[in-house]
Amino acid sequence: MRAPEKKRGRKIAASAVSAWLNPLVRLEAQADGTIAACFDDYSVGLGKFSAGAVDRAQALRTGLPLSSFSDHGSATDKEIDLLVHRLARRGLLEYRLAHSHHEKYQVVIEPQLPDYWPRTTKPNDTETIALSRFAYLRRRGNEMVLESPRAGALFRICDPRIASTLAALSTPRKISWLRRQDGFPGAELLTLLLDCEILFKVDAASDDLRAAEGDDNLVMWDFHDLLFHARSTEGRQSNPLGGLYPFAGVISPLPAVRPHWPGKKIDLDAFSTAAAAPNSPFTQLLQERHSTRDFDDAQPITLAELSQFLNRTARVQSNWTSKPDFDDHGPDIEYTTRRYPSGGSSYELELYLAVAQCEGLARGFYHYDAGGHALVAIETRPHELEAMLSTAAFAMGASAAPPILITIAARFGRVSWKYASIAHSLILKDAGVLIQTFYLMATDMGLGGCAIGTSNIDLFAKMTGIEFHVEGPVGQFALGRGSKLEGSE
Ligand SMILES: Cc1cc2nc3c(=O)[nH]c(=O)nc-3n(C[C@H](O)[C@H](O)[C@H](O)COP(=O)(O)O)c2cc1C
Repeated sequence: MRAPEKKRGRKIAASAVSAWLNPLVRLEAQADGTIAACFDDYSVGLGKFSAGAVDRAQALRTGLPLSSFSDHGSATDKEIDLLVHRLARRGLLEYRLAHSHHEKYQVVIEPQLPDYWPRTTKPNDTETIALSRFAYLRRRGNEMVLESPRAGALFRICDPRIASTLAALSTPRKISWLRRQDGFPGAELLTLLLDCEILFKVDAASDDLRAAEGDDNLVMWDFHDLLFHARSTEGRQSNPLGGLYPFAGVISPLPAVRPHWPGKKIDLDAFSTAAAAPNSPFTQLLQERHSTRDFDDAQPITLAELSQFLNRTARVQSNWTSKPDFDDHGPDIEYTTRRYPSGGSSYELELYLAVAQCEGLARGFYHYDAGGHALVAIETRPHELEAMLSTAAFAMGASAAPPILITIAARFGRVSWKYASIAHSLILKDAGVLIQTFYLMATDMGLGGCAIGTSNIDLFAKMTGIEFHVEGPVGQFALGRGSKLEGSE
């Protein structure tokens, strides 16, 4: 009998990644070798380079293979490596993956994190991989994009066969199995997707894909919550963000007050017996509350005032334990009582203070220990503290950083351990409640403050060393003594 023919793996041409300058950006070189990246009315200096490097940098318009330079090659190689990394850190590059001898790209990679760098390593054919439960394909304009809130980059899918490979990976598969399929996209793409956690390696023994994908903190996230968290904050995405008026001139703004319903109207003023009575202290407080964005640097907030502010608003008042609802045999769950309400008494919110100017307290980054009523210093790099404070000043349109910037961070798992589907929305509501508590206490103490609607979750992760899905910012509040000028307005 003839021996069966040995099955051979399909030969797939290797793919290569090249760096491309963002199409909206142009590089301008001066006679002295200084290069700047220019877009709209902005220009970003990238440093001084040799004539050879300036010349080679032009290839970034038509694709510069990443394999063509490195930081341990020739002098020009090193310069190009430096220039490309500087452009990458500023989000001015995209990357394209193509089979070496084909013109057509398989994917275009758009970085979402400033530190993203495409890494292609050789995968092991015996490894089993699966599609992340956080990954999704969607139409953007007339392109198909593959995204995940965990990923450092977004992938524009240029070859529809890649989508069918991804669909096959909803069930864990060995890489050797994938290689034998028509339309196998190549090992390079698999490693890029593994690096971005759009694919993940599965232990052959594991029968619980949700648990296999990450730590317990990740297991507790619902898909829609993690996506919303990463896409509605700064730091892990490159979409335009903030008050940019994207529909001005396209759609009319909605009126400030809703047009009334056509039904019978009951005029409440006619029933208001309290109209003539003096305001209660609380009504007075509500009336006086306003946002303060300019602070008195001659007479800064003191440590004693800060201590009182935190004691009155955020300190733990008492501790207690309880069983889960409807389960007397379940675990004892720890709870606290505090001065503001919290969904399910979760009290998942933590306070981190970036201190620029506070009499009696050194400039720095601190965690407020709400149980012990103490500040604990956290060592951070000075430029990160500066970035956090100056971003807050920018968000307030203020000329200087706030004396104290309170970042309200959530321990997400404290809420999602109990609440399915609504966890993140509860956390954001809790943050709103705490912000109003801060506003009222600042007013009551003769201090001033302002809520800030954006926070950089990547910067916070770098400053604390805590992964973004474990604990992260959901709100910010600037605190200090309002400037005299503001009080007289
Ligand atoms: C959730 C939230 C986010 C806010 N974000 C910002 C912000 O990023 N920058 C800012 O200057 N003010 C911010 N504010 C303050 C509002 O602009 C302010 O409350 C509003 O203009 C009403 O003014 P008042 O607080 O003085 O009454 C925010 C307020 C809230 C409640």
